[in-house]
Amino acid sequence: MAMTPQLQDAYNDQITLEFASSFAYLQMAAFFEDTNLPGFATWMRQQAEEERLHAMKFFEFVLDRGNQVELRSIPAPSSDFTSPLSVFEASLAHERKVTAAIHDLYGQATEGKDYESLPLLHWFINEQIEEESTVSELIEQIAMAGENGAALLLLDRELGTRAPGAE
Ligand code: FEO
Repeated sequence: MAMTPQLQDAYNDQITLEFASSFAYLQMAAFFEDTNLPGFATWMRQQAEEERLHAMKFFEFVLDRGNQVELRSIPAPSSDFTSPLSVFEASLAHERKVTAAIHDLYGQATEGKDYESLPLLHWFINEQIEEESTVSELIEQIAMAGENGAALLLLDRELGTRAPGAE
């Protein structure tokens, strides 16, 4: 059964937000390429791809429900980073915004008794817990490395091993 036009609108907003996330991480990857931290850049590229897949999960869901996908403008991501720490802090702020949007979508779906939405949104609620936790952990590790270049390079090497689809 198709969802209401209001819920369809909210899903289309979420598709846009996930593509905006992909853009944001791609911009972060460019910052790390510029600062000669290729491992961090790899991690960010994988994250950008993961966000594109999130957008596509919502995209397919809207179509499967017999609703219309309406792609919208993606705002330019911020690019005024000053350090690896500032990038990951921006990432955490962004993930919190995404979490709030998914919770809002969940609220709208439950209020409107759109039960078909719930399995998908549960998946995303869990995904956001993982994403916020991963980024928070990285913030702590980067903060610990501080001005120690050797520690940062070690972290760079570790992040560079992130495989496609891995957290
Ligand atoms: Fe798809 Fe990182 O939120």
